Amino acid sequence: MKICAFAAGLAILSHFTSAHYVFNRLIVNGTVSREFQYVRDVTGNAGTRDSLWLKTLYAPSLQQTTYKHLTDLFLTPYSPIYGPNDANITCGRGAFPVANAASIETATIAAGSEIGFMVSGPFYEGDTQQYIYHLGPGQMFLSKLPEGIKDLNAYDATGDFFKIGFAGPITNTTWALNDHLAMNATIPPSTPPGKYVLRIEQWLPHGMKGQSQWFVNCAHVEIVGNGGGKPGPMVRFPGAYSEEEQAVWFRNEDESMGYFRSALEYVMPKPEIWVG
Ligand SMILES: *[C@@H]1O[C@H](CO)[C@@H](O)[C@H](O)[C@H]1NC(C)=O
Ligand SMILES: *[C@@H]1O[C@H](CO)[C@@H](O)[C@H](O)[C@H]1NC(C)=O
Ligand SMILES: *[C@@H]1O[C@H](CO)[C@@H](O)[C@H](O)[C@H]1NC(C)=O
Ligand SMILES: *[C@@H]1O[C@H](CO)[C@@H](O)[C@H](O)[C@H]1NC(C)=O
Repeated sequence: MKICAFAAGLAILSHFTSAHYVFNRLIVNGTVSREFQYVRDVTGNAGTRDSLWLKTLYAPSLQQTTYKHLTDLFLTPYSPIYGPNDANITCGRGAFPVANAASIETATIAAGSEIGFMVSGPFYEGDTQQYIYHLGPGQMFLSKLPEGIKDLNAYDATGDFFKIGFAGPITNTTWALNDHLAMNATIPPSTPPGKYVLRIEQWLPHGMKGQSQWFVNCAHVEIVGNGGGKPGPMVRFPGAYSEEEQAVWFRNEDESMGYFRSALEYVMPKPEIWVG
């Protein structure tokens, strides 16, 4: 009975619950890496459709919402990362300590080259390929391994990040990333060489306060090049955004949940992109 109710719940909520995914493959030099080859693993066990589904879900302590009872009924203990203040917003759920510390590799990337984060499952409703289909923007950031921390596995990524990419709305009802497999960005040419955490966030801004849904992953990279730039401005996660700001609580949603009437009014959250 419980299982039936759970399945029915997923079906009913599918237009906003099935839209979960993990950005677990890095694209470097035009090559797509293996799942979690360069990306910090998130909660769950790697490799299967079911475990990928679990990786995209979490039991938040939801403060308020019409959907809370539905969430309790059908999704507990698994539902998305809600809101920008969840401690797991840094690198994804359970991403630190690094669960795959023994196997994660560091991708060498030439400054000035284009990189990407590609999604993997789960797959629903006959899809043969997962796409980025939460309506909303995506951003990418870099955080240099702080002096004194011996390697990327030891870095919790709560230090300073600068932004290197933003993908926003393209029309009043569509967003640049939707129906793509990956978000791409350029490593700024004058990025100081060194080891970095490369972070992606893609989120569903929401018409209801506290209901934004976040999909976050982090990769280990080493940037090579001549450097010379001074990256900034810097932000930290959590802490970069408030629940109240328009980029998070976007009050022009249609009643049919998850659609936007005038997405072109969306404003990229701070900070500005550092182009190097
Ligand atoms: C992040 O998520 C994991 C797994 O669900 C949980 O155990 C942990 O407490 C969370 N970490 C923080 C800092 O909230
Ligand atoms: C990408 O290409 C550069 C040479 O241009 C190389 O040093 C680097 O190892 C390559 N990175 C990956 C992850 O293949
Ligand atoms: C990013 O690049 C990949 C191929 O490397 C492509 O499949 C994807 O559509 C690109 N994303 C966007 C938003 O253009
Ligand atoms: C987008 O929506 C806003 C607000 O309704 C409207 O003012 C604007 O003209 C629309 N833009 C386009 C290109 O349709």
